[in-house]
Amino acid sequence: MTTVGVLAETAGRERRVALTPEVAGRLRKREVDVLVEAGAGRRAWFDDIGYADAGATVVTRELVYAGSDVLLCLHPPEDLAAAARPGQLVIGLLGRAPALAPGVRAISLDRLPRTLSRAQAMDALTSQANVAGYKAALLAAEAYPGYFPLLMTAAGTTRPAQVLVLGAGVAGLQAIATARRLGAQVTGYDVRAAARGDIASTGAAVLDLSGPAADAEGGYARGLTEDEAETQLRGLAAAIPRFDVVITTAQVPGRRAPLLVTAEALKGMRAGSVVLDLAAADDGGNVEGSIPDTRTVTDGGVAVIGAANLASTVPAAASTAYARNLLALLTHLMPRGEVVLDPGDEITDAVLVPERGDGEDDGEDHA
Ligand code: NAI
Repeated sequence: MTTVGVLAETAGRERRVALTPEVAGRLRKREVDVLVEAGAGRRAWFDDIGYADAGATVVTRELVYAGSDVLLCLHPPEDLAAAARPGQLVIGLLGRAPALAPGVRAISLDRLPRTLSRAQAMDALTSQANVAGYKAALLAAEAYPGYFPLLMTAAGTTRPAQVLVLGAGVAGLQAIATARRLGAQVTGYDVRAAARGDIASTGAAVLDLSGPAADAEGGYARGLTEDEAETQLRGLAAAIPRFDVVITTAQVPGRRAPLLVTAEALKGMRAGSVVLDLAAADDGGNVEGSIPDTRTVTDGGVAVIGAANLASTVPAAASTAYARNLLALLTHLMPRGEVVLDPGDEITDAVLVPERGDGEDDGEDHA
């Protein structure tokens, strides 16, 4: 019988958990044993009793490591290289090349072939980006000093907020949809031609800077050339001042997030405007000067919110979706109750981190 173990996240601000009591119960029905580290779900509001009621066994971290065939997590656990045993399989959003002790295998959901329809139920990048996009719109609305909707009251009519969403992948489209539900007038922008259609299908307006389409493989964008990027920055700087709220979500795989909103563009915005950067990172995001997990205000009165890891701030919904992604993956890997890592299977082959010496790649993303 296979035993699946759930580790508490070790990253400081992380509130999500890899498995919920709901999915623990569904694994138990499939005759899979489940070990859960005590307190693992606490910060997502899933208590130990819920897991025990679902048929899981709540134990110490040491016992999870000692007794599991498969370890589930979100981020790579700090103690993974030291604590995991040969023969164990670790599954999470581990990046391209997690540090592993010899004999430990890893599946990283970052490697999932996302356009494959069979893999969609396992797509944790999508489920978590959806949560982040939703929360981005809420945070921006909260920081904005006006209403999002047009309101007709006895005291007169308020105009709706003008919201611009830059980058219309999974997170951007969800931010667009959420801001529209809140009543804002929303415009979306992306460099991929396909994304422009996606924006229009939400009912939002499409900002057209008449640049070249930059679609690349797998539904992702390619990096722009220097000239293209400069033209884009100029076009955006001209468009941005008419918006009250800008939400940025642009990413290019294997590269630093592209700069889309310069300090100059921020200067053109009205006082009280809000710019929320979902791509905020220590090495720079989409907005010049944005700092991860920090809210600053420019001299011109524009709030700049660096919003890193927003999925963690909606931990119950994000964990629920992630755990269901893992259930779909585990169901795929365990057709008869035992884990089978079949390299001939398209999904398994893609998500399995190559063992050192496999020579497939060095696991690094090269820009
Ligand atoms: P992502 O997180 O890599 O990027 C977010 C967005 O930023 C993308 O839409 C990208 O085009 C845009 N972007 C990049 N550089 C930009 C720039 N300089 N200016 C403006 N926008 C820029 O992408 P995400 O959200 O992870 O997924 C992107 C796409 O992957 C999806 O839209 C889809 O095509 C594909 N996908 C397909 C799925 C499926 O077929 N079921 C599932 C999930 C994703």
